[in-house]
Amino acid sequence: MSGRPRAVVDGLPQYKPGKSAAQAAADHQLAEAIKLASNECSYGPLPSVLEAVADGANLLNRYPDHRGEALRVAISEKQGVGADQVTVGCGSVGLLQQAFMAYVDVGDEVVYPWRSFEVHPVFSAISEATPITVPLKDQAFDLEAVEAAVTERTKLVILSTPNNPTGTVCSTDEINKLLDAVSDDVVVIIDEAYLEFVTDESVRNPVTEILPQHDNAVLFRTFSKAYGLANLRVGYALGHVDVIGAIDKVALPFLVNGLAQAAVLASLDSEAEGELNDRVAEVIAERTRLSEALGDRGWPVTPSQANFLWLPVGEEAGPLFQRLESKGIVTRPFENEGVRVTVGTPEENDRFLDEIGTR
Ligand SMILES: Cc1ncc(COP(=O)(O)O)c(C=O)c1O
Repeated sequence: MSGRPRAVVDGLPQYKPGKSAAQAAADHQLAEAIKLASNECSYGPLPSVLEAVADGANLLNRYPDHRGEALRVAISEKQGVGADQVTVGCGSVGLLQQAFMAYVDVGDEVVYPWRSFEVHPVFSAISEATPITVPLKDQAFDLEAVEAAVTERTKLVILSTPNNPTGTVCSTDEINKLLDAVSDDVVVIIDEAYLEFVTDESVRNPVTEILPQHDNAVLFRTFSKAYGLANLRVGYALGHVDVIGAIDKVALPFLVNGLAQAAVLASLDSEAEGELNDRVAEVIAERTRLSEALGDRGWPVTPSQANFLWLPVGEEAGPLFQRLESKGIVTRPFENEGVRVTVGTPEENDRFLDEIGTR
């Protein structure tokens, strides 16, 4: 006997991390491999950010600022909201976990479209909530069906837009229509981990176009993707002071480490932001090139607003993933549904195109 985990925890599968590039290379006796599986930024950190992190390392013996106050202020100034409307967390996924802790009791309902980000069912299970999943329509969210799924037992609605793994977005008007329809005692989390890559004009600035009208809406964002800081784990949320306050109450002490705080502050510097924006523009251009090239080669590709593409190849997903991995390209398979591939550098994308070939 080695303890008695909660029944819900016993029922959860063990987490199986995707393969690293190094592991894939070793498994297939290749000189090297590339990882296009986790929607990371393929470029290394900016020199100014590295410098800030190196400076921060002088204080490794001290706890960081508990609340990440300087970060909250910098983010609030950039977004044009009050500092009390911002919180920061261990990635946006950490904030999502805090939202479950803050709002969801055993038996409460949590509504989200499915397929979507894989943590939603896991956090629902751990909270002993009832997940209410709403099927996608043509690979995208059906917000009318989401609205119909909300009941008086619903505590949270979670919308990842762009959605992972399909890369589709909800328009600002659609989201506002949903928010107008649902009771304001339901917190609607709009998970915008890939917002910086969105070019669709139906998506307008959520800070000015959604938040002021809806106190129960909260935006979750991250420095892991466009800002290229996935290894440091920082996300932030923007919303009404009461929602931010509730999420804050369940935070671990000192949850954003000092190196991460230093890196984010350096990344928000205007020069660094300019360089990061150039990278984002390149990813967007490569997304178009890759989508078109895949289409020309006969592969189905869902139009994407994120830094990844979704190939809904159904039962070909497993074999396609295996074939690419054996050539040193690690993608993310969803068994019998499709394969998700991150948009990498132009060289990585060329290599991916060469290996995937024509369908
Ligand atoms: C839709 C979505 N939300 C949130 C995250 C989490 O990002 P992080 O915890 O690194 O901020 C991811 C990461 O893949 C994601 O795909």
